[in-house]
Amino acid sequence: MTDPKWPVVDAFFESRLLHADPVLEAALRSSREADLPDIQVSPVQGRLLELIAGAAGARRILEIGTLGGYSAICLARALPEGGRLVTLEIEPKHAEVARKNIERAGLTAKVEIRLGPALETLPKLAAEKAGPFDLVFLDADRPNSRAYIEWALRLTHPGSLVLVDNVVRRGEVADPTQRDPRVAGVREMIEAIGAEGRLRATAIQTVGNKGYDGFLLARVQEAAPGRATGRER
Ligand code: SAH
Ligand code: DHB
Ligand code: MG
Repeated sequence: MTDPKWPVVDAFFESRLLHADPVLEAALRSSREADLPDIQVSPVQGRLLELIAGAAGARRILEIGTLGGYSAICLARALPEGGRLVTLEIEPKHAEVARKNIERAGLTAKVEIRLGPALETLPKLAAEKAGPFDLVFLDADRPNSRAYIEWALRLTHPGSLVLVDNVVRRGEVADPTQRDPRVAGVREMIEAIGAEGRLRATAIQTVGNKGYDGFLLARVQEAAPGRATGRER
């Protein structure tokens, strides 16, 4: 399900709103040359990440799923002096490409890449008291989505934002017959967020360069005494 107009409209917004961006263009080029999968956020989505991080006044950001560092660069651009982004990546080759791209972006002092399976790195971050993070961006393996949300809750504070990429997948998320563990993982995560009560959340469907997908945005609520439903105002 794609419409040929979607990339044309993205190209229009890119050319009018984003301006030439040699740093991100070089990051894409080097990711392509290293044969990384072409699945980073699109330019207009990357700008949205930067704007959300900036609007939230985020000083500490956690990303799960670095790839070539494209979204990490977008997010880190919003950090103030002294701000920090920690990004988790399982593939050494991806982390190495990202390291160079982040260096070229002049963001090495603000960005730390942690190599390893995120479910092993997250407990280490907690033990090191690396948090609390003001913003968490989840963009890694979908079957672990629910576990990542639980870690995000442990590593944030009331008011922190949690963003999750790729929650729609051509609409598969709402298809109960869909057995793909990536889709099932996202559906379970959404159901857990809705039932759990500590996140006030929404999800927005998107179209564009990357086809039909969407993202989830949530804010960590104040811990309510007793049994919070997440629906109180
Ligand atoms: N956020 C990036 C895209 C990430 S693609 C951007 O928009 O620029 C997903 C990444 O998650 C891949 O690089 C993949 O290797 C990584 N990944 C997959 N499983 C992981 C795991 N268990 N722990 C950490 N990273 C993982
Ligand atoms: C895929 C992963 C992503 O993070 C994304 O934004 C698009 C596609 C994928 O694994 O196919
Ligand atoms: Mg993604």
